[in-house]
Amino acid sequence: MATFPIIDMEKLNGQDRAVTMERIKDACENWGFFELVNHGISIELMDTVERLTKEHYKKCMEQRFKEMVASKGLEAVQNEIDDLDWESTFFLSHLPHSNMLDIPDLVEDYRKAMRDFAAGIEKLAEELLDLLCENLGLEKGYLKKAFYGSKGPTFGTKVSNYPPCPKPDLIKGLRAHTDAGGIILLFQDDQVSGLQLLKDGEWIDVPPMRHSIVINIGDQLEVITNGKYKSVMHRVIAQTDGNRMSLASFYNPGGDAVIYPAPELLEKEEKAKAYPKFVFQDYMKLYAGLKFQEKEPRFEAMKAMEIAT
Ligand SMILES: [Fe+2]
Repeated sequence: MATFPIIDMEKLNGQDRAVTMERIKDACENWGFFELVNHGISIELMDTVERLTKEHYKKCMEQRFKEMVASKGLEAVQNEIDDLDWESTFFLSHLPHSNMLDIPDLVEDYRKAMRDFAAGIEKLAEELLDLLCENLGLEKGYLKKAFYGSKGPTFGTKVSNYPPCPKPDLIKGLRAHTDAGGIILLFQDDQVSGLQLLKDGEWIDVPPMRHSIVINIGDQLEVITNGKYKSVMHRVIAQTDGNRMSLASFYNPGGDAVIYPAPELLEKEEKAKAYPKFVFQDYMKLYAGLKFQEKEPRFEAMKAMEIAT
């Protein structure tokens, strides 16, 4: 079995560039996921973000999570739970507007670290989109422009902790889904594993690696590439030991961005248009109720709406 793709971004600057670009292409087409090392975000900043995220969980989130578990009797469940996830989360919005000041219990150091981290992730996301453009034969800036709409991209970070779970076979950390948006950049715990992706019908671990960033392709990139790049199912298995930290940053289209397969890719493939054209926020409305289902019926529903209008 092929091993999980790990991309060293430093190799994009030297004689290994062509091989590295080919590996990114293979990962986008066949895995929907890859893991980046030497991505340009400082190790010191990542360490600070990790420490402060874990401190924030202990101080502000853990008690609330324990109370939720107790109130729902989750410690003692006997049957599979399919309507909730064993996770504690909050969401930081960065673009088009930051909500950082609206979240009352963030200490100033944490706000600053997350602002710096988000700036690094945003830059990396845009760099990656241009590498994808290069591989796809699209002009530089095409994907960024496709996501832009009238107010620029939507960009935010879901901060999650997956506390130790007594029944990981009955309650998922996060149920299987594909991501609705554009490109997702994940800073995951380097000690506590749990993220898995579905490849050829099998669940494969996304290995924890210190200071790496895991990338995955969302539904919108699958649409724009007319299915060349894959948005794949993934899930988090809760662990009986250890608290898993996960910072997933979503670089998504603006709400009013119109998403459709890049005409250049359709011409090259000379095949009928397989994916629909729609306004991103309409897709998100549909996704809200169907997140934990396969993506194909969502694409079909958008296609039906397109024909009806
Ligand atoms: Fe996801």
